[in-house]
Amino acid sequence: MSDAFQAPGWQPNILRLWPTIVVRRTLDECEAPNAALVRLIEDMERETDQLTASRWRDGKMFDADHDAIRWLKAGIDETTQAYFDEVGMNYGIGWTIAAWPNINRFGDYHAPHNHAWSYLSGTYYVRVPGVDGEGSPDGAAGSGGISFYDPRTSVNMLAANGEALARSEFAVAPRAGTLLIWDASITHSVHPNLAEESRISISFNIALAWSDSYLHEP
Ligand SMILES: [Fe+2]
Repeated sequence: MSDAFQAPGWQPNILRLWPTIVVRRTLDECEAPNAALVRLIEDMERETDQLTASRWRDGKMFDADHDAIRWLKAGIDETTQAYFDEVGMNYGIGWTIAAWPNINRFGDYHAPHNHAWSYLSGTYYVRVPGVDGEGSPDGAAGSGGISFYDPRTSVNMLAANGEALARSEFAVAPRAGTLLIWDASITHSVHPNLAEESRISISFNIALAWSDSYLHEP
């Protein structure tokens, strides 16, 4: 091809098929609810052995009669509705949320995994301690960050420089107030917390409440 490449005289119709969707937002005015959630989760830990493991199994954190829990659940419900609207499921979807708290101390991490038997999964970040000398720019996981991996296994084998869809890992450096919701099948991992202070988050799985309207015509 010569250097004198000419733009085509026709309009290309580029199809971006089968998207992988991750929703990221910051919940407004999160400071007071976050402070209340820290107190609530630290109280839970004092009363519960193996807090994350046992609460993950019961998934009933949102059953608590607590203003900050109601605030967070409303934010998750609103974001979940936005997800369903975006993907065309805008005909009255019902869902349930199973949530559990995480306290990650120095060095704690979570190896790559997905969330089987869920439709969507997510995490809300309550407290994210900073690490000296680390800026954690977007795209770099940093301490306590989360990475999502391309479900198209090994598609990066022939990725050329500059190809927008070629990165096999997408990292997010969350802050207190960050809410992430993603397709539960996406493999993700949590990077080690390198801060002395613990990092506190609330993870959740969203299951659809069954309706025959979900069945599509073949
Ligand atoms: Fe996870």
